[in-house]
Amino acid sequence: MRIRSNTYQKVSHQIANYIHKKANDSINGEHFILGLATGSTPHQIYEELKSMDIDFSRTITFNLDEYVGLNENHPQSYKYFMNKGLFKSQNFHSNNFPDEKLYPYYDSMIDNVGGIDIQILGIGTNGHIAFNEPGTPRDSKTRIVDLTENTIKDNSRFFDSIDEVPTQAMTMGINTIMKSKAIYLIAQGKHKKEILERAVYGEITPEVPASFLQEHPNCEVFYSD
Ligand code: GLP
Repeated sequence: MRIRSNTYQKVSHQIANYIHKKANDSINGEHFILGLATGSTPHQIYEELKSMDIDFSRTITFNLDEYVGLNENHPQSYKYFMNKGLFKSQNFHSNNFPDEKLYPYYDSMIDNVGGIDIQILGIGTNGHIAFNEPGTPRDSKTRIVDLTENTIKDNSRFFDSIDEVPTQAMTMGINTIMKSKAIYLIAQGKHKKEILERAVYGEITPEVPASFLQEHPNCEVFYSD
């Protein structure tokens, strides 16, 4: 695993193209299973996908995570973000979230459709992937977690005040993510550079959950300033 650096536009365009190809290839074959991330980093990928002529009718999506206590009408819920940012503009077969009802079945739901073909990932400034915070074991599955102070503070920029940020979330586990056939991790901004380098070139440790990706056979890592 190594870090490839390019502009944010080019990285987003490249990943959107990977998705485009897989979605169109799926039209005459198996369903395409796409794992999606939220946060500000994947935003441009979704903008690209919205503007492309893609047939998503055989694409099934699974989002990585969702806040506990925010329903889909809350502008900061990940369901709201994805509906507005992508799902309403394209003809997906179905879109899944590890919400309060489904999270206990989420890993089996993914297994039952044959596993995730492409998983898009961001990284938190503390090395989290999805909401797998430092200390998360390698064998973790989809579950409810407590968010760290660092994550609550980072994500408070999307809320009116830090007190409104949920303190818990439902998230795919490290094990769930590692079962994906291909993973594209994207980090944007100089504030992510140090943690990204630790994740990719440092010790594999639960203290940097993204470091487990070093053990994945097909993970590409992109960085842009
Ligand atoms: C959130 C999400 C992560 C995401 C991270 C980074 O905490 N749960 O999936 O990778 O934030 O977000 P951003 O791309 O906004 O920096």
